[in-house]
Amino acid sequence: MTKNIIRSVKGTKDILPGESSEWQKIEKSFRNFIHRYGYREIRTPVFEKTELFARGVGEGTDIVTKEMYTWEDRNGDSLTLKPELTAPVVRAYIQHNLGTELPLTKLYYFDSLFRRERPQKGRQRQFHQFGIEAIGSPFPELDAEIISAAYLFLSDLGLSKLKLKINSIGSNIAREMYSRELVNFIKPLRNKLSKISQKRLETNPLRILDTKIPEEIDLLKNAPDITKYLTNEDQEHFQDVVKLLEIMEIPFILDSRMVRGLDYYSRTTFEITSDSLGGQDALCGGGRYDSLVESLGGKPTPAMGFAAGVERILIALGETQISNYTNRTDIFIITMSKDSLEMGISLSNILRKEGFYIGMDSLRRSVKSQFREANKLRAQYALILGEEEMKQNKVTVKQMSSSDQSMIDINSISSFFKKSFSL
Ligand code: HAM
Repeated sequence: MTKNIIRSVKGTKDILPGESSEWQKIEKSFRNFIHRYGYREIRTPVFEKTELFARGVGEGTDIVTKEMYTWEDRNGDSLTLKPELTAPVVRAYIQHNLGTELPLTKLYYFDSLFRRERPQKGRQRQFHQFGIEAIGSPFPELDAEIISAAYLFLSDLGLSKLKLKINSIGSNIAREMYSRELVNFIKPLRNKLSKISQKRLETNPLRILDTKIPEEIDLLKNAPDITKYLTNEDQEHFQDVVKLLEIMEIPFILDSRMVRGLDYYSRTTFEITSDSLGGQDALCGGGRYDSLVESLGGKPTPAMGFAAGVERILIALGETQISNYTNRTDIFIITMSKDSLEMGISLSNILRKEGFYIGMDSLRRSVKSQFREANKLRAQYALILGEEEMKQNKVTVKQMSSSDQSMIDINSISSFFKKSFSL
């Protein structure tokens, strides 16, 4: 009886060998880039206590109400696969007293996250983000540096048509006042709203502004503007951010309708979108979260960060090229008998230790097939261990491009290749 094949779960994807080099490139570039700003890597567990996200991200958010992978552990604890990284990073910051090392703690990550959203292009149930969190400074220069870092990194990757939108949603007092006014404005329109917006009116009114439905966008045209509710300090802070971005020549758009889907934000928020993506156009999002450390049980500590989605960046960079790229092979060792196989295995280890990229047959194939494989891998040299060679304690080295070949002493193999590859 043939068995059904088992496929990956909806909303998850394999990153195949032809694609993984693109991933490695982004990860490596990000590490190089962000080290220059003084950030250090943090890795947090794949799952956390559910309460962390309920308290951190917010009870009324889409993430917490409907997108988390949550289960009850055998001891009754409620656990959740992390849907985002700001709350886990802040949890770790508090738990390990990271703030005592330096007054400003700068952390970065590159990780896998889980949200049970409806899958579509650029939206998965397991996806990847890289991002940073800087915990400890209330000043606008931190906001400007972080926003500019996000923008410059995405530009450096070669992404064009980037749009940076910035906003200030004010301190908690301003946002509460605004929220009340917004609800007053929307209530009379309640029946004209979609089910989801009606629900948000109860749970998270600001998120209604995030609607993509044209009729709703129209209805909200005259909704109160958050910028009118900012306190003087909020306004000064935001003006300074704007001024610094101008000094750094980072192009941006002020968007007072931009609300982010997570509750921890205060004051500056931003998003970077790309026209080359469809509906899911946000490549990167972030902002200030001055109350999060305190609401997760730490001392009041202002902070700011961003995260960018790797899958969306790859889509925006152009369909990932599935390359025929094979690993580099410097030398392919060709063996012919049990003895030469044993010799080949020990030589391959010696040469790999020296830093060479070695290929060798593990299928007991004919010499002809082994040469074919060496060609396919674009090996520069074939190292032949034939009977004659074995008898004389020698090997034949064949340069694949020219077919030049010579016999050399086994003991001088390393020095021969070091010279050939100028190591
Ligand atoms: P976020 O806006 O929820 O923010 O996610 C940031 C980015 O992750 C998005 O702009 C998008 O590129 C990517 N992303 C989100 N959900 C998905 C998905 N289902 N599939 C593919 N990509 C996705 C946060 O997560 C905040 N923690 C960012 C932050 C850090 N704020 C302050 N510090």
